[in-house]
Amino acid sequence: MDTTAARDTRACAARRARLAAQMPPGAVAVLPTAPPAIRNGDSEYPYRHDSYFYYLTGFTEPESVLVLVAAHGERPARSILFCREKHPEREIWDGFRYGPQAARAAFGVDEAFAIDAIDTELTRILADAPALYYALAANAALDARVKGWMDAVRALARGGTTAPASFHDLLPLLDEMRLLKDDGEQATMARAGRISAQAHARAMGAARPGVFEYALEAELLYEFRRNGAQFPAYTPIVASGPNACVLHYNANDRQVRDGELVLIDAGCELDGYAADITRTFPVNGRFDAAQRTLYELVLAAQRAAFAAIAPGRPYAGFHEAALRVLVQGMLDLGLVDRSKVGNVDDAIAARAHLPFYMHGTGHWLGMDVHDVGAYRDVTQPGKPSRLLQPGMALTVEPGIYVRPADGVPEAFWNIGIRIEDDVIVTEDGPRILTGDAPREVAEIEALVGKGMHG
Ligand code: GLY
Ligand code: MN
Ligand code: MN
Repeated sequence: MDTTAARDTRACAARRARLAAQMPPGAVAVLPTAPPAIRNGDSEYPYRHDSYFYYLTGFTEPESVLVLVAAHGERPARSILFCREKHPEREIWDGFRYGPQAARAAFGVDEAFAIDAIDTELTRILADAPALYYALAANAALDARVKGWMDAVRALARGGTTAPASFHDLLPLLDEMRLLKDDGEQATMARAGRISAQAHARAMGAARPGVFEYALEAELLYEFRRNGAQFPAYTPIVASGPNACVLHYNANDRQVRDGELVLIDAGCELDGYAADITRTFPVNGRFDAAQRTLYELVLAAQRAAFAAIAPGRPYAGFHEAALRVLVQGMLDLGLVDRSKVGNVDDAIAARAHLPFYMHGTGHWLGMDVHDVGAYRDVTQPGKPSRLLQPGMALTVEPGIYVRPADGVPEAFWNIGIRIEDDVIVTEDGPRILTGDAPREVAEIEALVGKGMHG
């Protein structure tokens, strides 16, 4: 086994132990991985494991279930993996599968069984267990299976066996754990960030007037894959000209005209972890005056946001910092009418920025591109924004989007700009994972159209 896998196996075992320690004695947690998804006919989407399951196992095969039993009296906590049995014939068609015996050794679980044995084994495991933890009401298929297991245990009542008397939602416990990234996770995220930044640089290098959005998308995907990333972390957005004002545009089929901006929002998924980067650049390598003015405004907003990220500061602070800069700019540039809304505070209170800036300035980032974890401290009165801690990972993505409208200076029409980077909170402030993608005006102008692949 290579050292990366060995380290991850240890990290997964430590996570299972931390989870089990949060459950009452003898309680059982059941966590299946994701089902495969059919695309059409006999064709499946590329398989993607469930993030929670992967977090606790490192195991990427479909048809797998992790069962954890919390320590009870003298019995230590146990991890049990259910997975596909070895199958020489199916392996000719579909490739290698571990099988329980090899999986047990490779992934460091205490026991492993064939997935076909799960009903029998869970009836035994749940017998006399006080509590069951699972993704409550998250999917109907799992709810139905839980009912089946409960029915089987309840059928043993005459012999004195008791079934779990309380059900608990497993996911909030895991959400809190996933919010703080350990060293191995941070290293993987940093690699995902570097590969994705390189992909943005490649697309900038390949841009020129007349290029199709999909050709730039192809540059991104090529760079992701040649560096070992398994997938794009989400459908890439390559939005030129007016398309940049459509937040979730992803048709990526328009030809880019001279003088237009291109907004690219794309990141890879590497070993289960996402990157999420946006860059905006002029396709001909020169920002015009209006484009540059708005670009520098968004850049200033991003700098203000970075300065608000530090341990102990509220999560909401970096959005508020970016928003103030953006709204001041909107007032100064006449996007928002000063005579109607007054100063920055009044404009923000009146939400006068919403036509031009309608999204938040970031989100948690991790295995899921919009990663899990509460944004507010629900244990406090008023549910204030939670405080940042070292190890939290988030995006910082201010933008401005100007659709043609009465009263809006025409020079800015159809300009859409977003600048998005990924950071990890450290004691010293934000560690930027995606800085290799050019962000300053001069860097961008020096690169666009100059790539080897243009
Ligand atoms: N790419 C998704 C997002 O920026 O949130
Ligand atoms: Mn994002
Ligand atoms: Mn994004």
